[in-house]
Amino acid sequence: MKKYNVAVVGATGLVGSTFLQVLAEENFPIADLRLFASAKSAGRVIAYCGKEYVVEELKPGCFEGVEIALFSAGGAISTEWAPEAAKSGAVVIDNSSAWRMNDECALIVPEINIDDFDTHGNIVANPNCSTIQSVLPLKPLQEKWGLKRVVYSTYQACSGSGMKGKADLERTQKGEPNQFYPYNIAQTCIPHIDVFLDNGYTKEEMKMVNETRKILGLADLPVSATCVRVPVANGHAVSIMAELDKPFELDEVREALAQTEGIVVLDDPKNNVYPVSTVANGNNLVYVGRIRRDLSAANGLLLYCVSDNIRKGAAANAVQIALKLIKEGKI
Ligand SMILES: NC(=O)c1ccc[n+]([C@@H]2O[C@H](COP(=O)([O-])OP(=O)(O)OC[C@H]3O[C@@H](n4cnc5c(N)ncnc54)[C@H](OP(=O)(O)O)[C@@H]3O)[C@@H](O)[C@H]2O)c1
Repeated sequence: MKKYNVAVVGATGLVGSTFLQVLAEENFPIADLRLFASAKSAGRVIAYCGKEYVVEELKPGCFEGVEIALFSAGGAISTEWAPEAAKSGAVVIDNSSAWRMNDECALIVPEINIDDFDTHGNIVANPNCSTIQSVLPLKPLQEKWGLKRVVYSTYQACSGSGMKGKADLERTQKGEPNQFYPYNIAQTCIPHIDVFLDNGYTKEEMKMVNETRKILGLADLPVSATCVRVPVANGHAVSIMAELDKPFELDEVREALAQTEGIVVLDDPKNNVYPVSTVANGNNLVYVGRIRRDLSAANGLLLYCVSDNIRKGAAANAVQIALKLIKEGKI
């Protein structure tokens, strides 16, 4: 099997370090590995599969010979450096929001739309974490019954804000004052993720709206979202109301979800079986439960899903994209 020259940009971060874990778990075919982070981390040594690698700073020409570049160093770095990596011949898989809505970039959840790579350029965008775990269960519903409308409410873990978010949760749990979130995250949920826009929604909420439409190929699908940060260390949850085009039976919905790659149905509420964030921690699956009829709309369905936002919501989804492209002979 061919081996690839791989670069990880943002290798010292929460997503970047999980990239390395997932690459190792998947026995990713790596010939040469390059690790990049900010000037602050340059020179730091990171072990990967028994070998040590020195973290480098980004500089012109640094992507020469790189064939796959996994980016997770924020939007500004991706905006500046992803084109340089792509120009030097790498397929870039980017975790920031910088390229997601660019028409030349595919926005991929590999179980849903890997073929979008064929009609787009070499920068592939990894969707927002809450979007990934939401569109995965929506896809079989779309295929079988059609989607008419979607409303999301999220319960997002502090690891979704990277190292700074995790540290603020730990700090406030010890009784120290908050330094990163605008309120004490140990004591309250905060209905504010990313910046507020003129329409009253946050940028995170609009990412969920726009990315859902792009991934599912439904440009006019009515979608709205409320995104909330909760005092949970890791593992996002999303409550989804989906209004379907056609009538459905709940057992058929459970069956369709259970047969979808990447989904586990946990739905026996009388025995306290439903998805909680802890069940998703450390693995790459999306858990779906609390499947029931919405009482306010004809053909309305409610469900609740959880997933590890650093894994399926970021690093694992990106590595799965790369592995699928390799398997299909596209890289
Ligand atoms: N956390 C999540 O659940 C999640 C989910 C999906 C997508 N993402 C996205 O993934 C990206 C990283 O998130 P994270 O949670 O891993 O954040 P993080 O823990 O704060 O890590 C940020 C990484 O970016 C690096 N970096 C910062 N400035 C840099 C520079 N000038 N040049 C090169 N590298 C630089 C940092 O290096 P230093 O250590 O040297 O500062 C670090 O490795 C963001 O775009 C985020 O939106 C995160």
